[in-house]
Amino acid sequence: MQGIKIVATGRALPQRIVTNEELSKRVDTTDEWIRTRTGIGQRYICENETCTSLAVRAAEKAMEKAGIGKDQVEAIVVATATSDLAFPSTACMVQKALGFPKELMAFDISAGCSGFLYGLGVARGLLLAGKKEYVLLIGSEQLSRITDFSDRSTCVLFGDGAGAAVISLTEQPYAYRAWADGEAGPLFCPGVGIDGARLHMEGNQVFKFAVKAIAQGVEAILKDTKMSIGEIDFVVCHQANQRIIEHVKKKYEGTKTVFYMNMENYANTSAASIPIALDEMGEKGLLKPGMKMICVGFGAGFTWGSALLTV
Ligand code: UT7
Repeated sequence: MQGIKIVATGRALPQRIVTNEELSKRVDTTDEWIRTRTGIGQRYICENETCTSLAVRAAEKAMEKAGIGKDQVEAIVVATATSDLAFPSTACMVQKALGFPKELMAFDISAGCSGFLYGLGVARGLLLAGKKEYVLLIGSEQLSRITDFSDRSTCVLFGDGAGAAVISLTEQPYAYRAWADGEAGPLFCPGVGIDGARLHMEGNQVFKFAVKAIAQGVEAILKDTKMSIGEIDFVVCHQANQRIIEHVKKKYEGTKTVFYMNMENYANTSAASIPIALDEMGEKGLLKPGMKMICVGFGAGFTWGSALLTV
């Protein structure tokens, strides 16, 4: 089966860092509570940046690293739950800001924190059906716009940021699964026309769902590819909470597989968390040709998905 690979990545963060200590001056919380319950130490929060400007910067870096022409891009796809405008899409703004030619598709997808994983499936479909070699897939979020900074149970969890990936087809091993179940109550944000819309989350329910979703995502890929966990170099999950990932990791103790985590520095950046992690891993020189990784996304919907990618 023809798979996809990530040719190049880029990431963009707002300038302003908000530490746990700073948040503890606004709501009744502590650095110790946040770190032990989530693994989060700080987050980036937009002041002058927007969902679009972050997406543009991340995309520019990924395109530069890929070294490809803008006319080789079949589509710009932005996964986001916090688009600056309900329409036009953030993807169209990126197209204009970076001067992409008009002959391409530009649109956003809404799948909460699973957005990047869903985007991989969408990108593959577009590449198989299209005429050009690349899709520019971006996860960009300005979650601070929908965060209730008086609610300590949610405001400590989220951050702003963007990650972008240039995707192409490959003959290297690939596998993909995606799910949705329509369980909206535990995690939602009111939409268009609702003034002061803020994210609502039942943390415990989402935690239980997340643990199951990651385990199912990893196991499904191993079953489909007949691989063992020992053949996987990295598992890159949506970076929501260290405890969620540690919980799943226990099952695979004794293997060399690394469950990559970076929520300490960025908090939960929703659809941006996986491409930000991939970009950081590339920058650190962790990704060597031929390495295998399973990416797992989960979030509002509930939606979840997993993919085996080869570096
Ligand atoms: O990307 C979307 C996916 N979202 C997630 O993955 C989030 C999943 N859920 C979680 O990560 C966890 O459920 C949380 C981190 C949100 C909460 O952790 P928890 O261990 O489930 O805590 P809890 O909600 O059961 O609350 C325990 C206590 C409560 O106090 P009482 O009732 O025991 O007195 C809360 O009021 O902790 C209290 N609490 C806090 N205390 C200090 C809740 N938030 C805070 C806080 N600081 N920020």
